Amino acid sequence: MTLKVLSQDPGPIGVFDSGYGGLTVLRELRKQLPQYDYLYLGDNARAPYGTRSFDVVYRYTRQAVAYLFQQGCQLVILACNTASAKALRTIQQNDLPQWDAQRRVLGVIRPTAEAVGLLTQTGHVGILATSGTILSQSYELEIQKLHPRLKVVGQACPLWATLVENFETDSPGAEYFVGKDLHSLLSQDALIDTVILGCTHYPLLLPLLEKLTPKDIRLINQGKYVSLSLQDYLQRHPEMERRCTKHGSCRYLTTESPSVFDATASHFMDAHIESRHTDLNTD
Ligand code: DGL
Repeated sequence: MTLKVLSQDPGPIGVFDSGYGGLTVLRELRKQLPQYDYLYLGDNARAPYGTRSFDVVYRYTRQAVAYLFQQGCQLVILACNTASAKALRTIQQNDLPQWDAQRRVLGVIRPTAEAVGLLTQTGHVGILATSGTILSQSYELEIQKLHPRLKVVGQACPLWATLVENFETDSPGAEYFVGKDLHSLLSQDALIDTVILGCTHYPLLLPLLEKLTPKDIRLINQGKYVSLSLQDYLQRHPEMERRCTKHGSCRYLTTESPSVFDATASHFMDAHIESRHTDLNTD
């Protein structure tokens, strides 16, 4: 895939997710780093990604990143664990050098894996994520590299992102599936004291998760740790910091109908949102 000549002018920070989940990261980014401009892209028309093959997730994510670069983003955050697990490395190693070696794409798994070592007391950690993220073993690998003493077990939750995309976050059906997968995770290891919500859609199920999780278990909402990590990254990379515009704005793009996106996103973001439609299947 080749890109049109890319502008070197500073631009907004791109935030990408398969659908609504990345809004949970965007909300934290805007809270902790409000000075920057953001361009959010939700591939709602093709969500969920969680059960799709490696090749498909890579192809869709690559299209999204290329699109955000063409919109002027110099830095893109994959606010999606599935895309971070299945596409980030290949994009960084194969596509970026061809497109523009100065641009950067960052994911959400590494910052969360870094944080978990400081949060667990027992050293036993659980991961709730999409089938794709669990099968990739990305969390296990990152955590083992950073905190080799931790014991990690994971549970795939194949329906949770679909529940969120369909606005079914507190229905009896949601309670059944969330309870079932949570129980499967916790019954693997009685010493788990920290559970990573390893899919950016899952914080939208937090009221239900908090109701169903024993009180002595901490649920990790990764948005905060991704924001802190980005703040640290921009401090360490002033050349990239200068390439991010700062007017405090936020724009939204969706591959679905904007009216559907706006209603749901406005609810999740607790703000009035007006998105624009875009198509991504360009290669
Ligand atoms: N929000 C995404 C994640 O963090 C993807 C969910 C999905 O599309 O299945 O994994």
